[in-house]
Amino acid sequence: MKATAVARSNIALAKYWGKRDVPGNVPATPSLSVTLAGLSTRTTVAFDERGTDDVFVLGGVEVTGEPRARVIAVLDEVRRLAGVAHRARVDSANDFPTASGLASSASGFAALVHAAAAAAGVELSLAATSRMARRASASAARSVRGGFVSLGTGQDEADDPAAEVVAPETHWDLSVVVAAVTLDPKGTSSTTGMRHCRDTSPYYSAWLADAPKVFAEVRRAVLARDLEALGVAAEASALRMHACMMASAPALLYFQAATMTLLSEVRALRARGVGAWATIDAGPHVKVLVARADEARVAAALAPHAARVIVAHPGPGVELA
Ligand code: PMV
Repeated sequence: MKATAVARSNIALAKYWGKRDVPGNVPATPSLSVTLAGLSTRTTVAFDERGTDDVFVLGGVEVTGEPRARVIAVLDEVRRLAGVAHRARVDSANDFPTASGLASSASGFAALVHAAAAAAGVELSLAATSRMARRASASAARSVRGGFVSLGTGQDEADDPAAEVVAPETHWDLSVVVAAVTLDPKGTSSTTGMRHCRDTSPYYSAWLADAPKVFAEVRRAVLARDLEALGVAAEASALRMHACMMASAPALLYFQAATMTLLSEVRALRARGVGAWATIDAGPHVKVLVARADEARVAAALAPHAARVIVAHPGPGVELA
């Protein structure tokens, strides 16, 4: 009863920020992301009838507390479907900095659900895999699928949405230049940040009202392979999300000084005629959308201001290794 799965991280071009007031971790905004080859998690799950407790090892270090509890919640759901009570050992490794806003929970939970189901002999469709991943981390629902992927808010899907492929990874040879500002773990988790925004930001309702429009623009631009339209809409989605966070009380500020420097650098590149647009998640890192032909030039321009630069491309959904 052992299986290994690999899943890639994803970057939201239209952001999910906020949860609906229904059970099951359902987003309040529709999101659209690109799954990224080059930022992956490999997870092995082994169920053992002689095991006495669930063990979660990440990057060779045993993890306890809240992160382990979230892993156990997934294992419990799989055990219930399989009708087994065996404890499990979960061994996971990222090939990029963990919990730094490079979306390790997305690839992590997508790989975990897929490996755990396979290890327990539970047949799950990709939609069912995506729904189970969503309950653990909504962005993980998107990493189950490859290419350009959307996740709805569920109103007309029995409040249990699964991610859907908008276009496969072969649709568009886009590059995402990830400029990691620091390799330290992030400060405020997305769940805590979303709750704080909902409870205290005067811009939260404006964010919710605007997000579906930006989502539609992002979707249109992806289908048309229009980099400028995508860049403008993706930057708007990220900056409006951060405006909502910054308006919270006390302010939720994920930006660091280097974040602003990188944003200025992206603007300077554009002023010089290079098509480059930025997006930023719940962390200080800047991810830049560019045409494949410009990726080396943009990576070189960002490198002096970043702790690490990773160039990523559209990649496949979760798979068994
Ligand atoms: O699914 P979570 O809890 O990792 O939240 C993801 C939130 C953002 O990364 C900021 C946006 C997104 O859509 O991925």
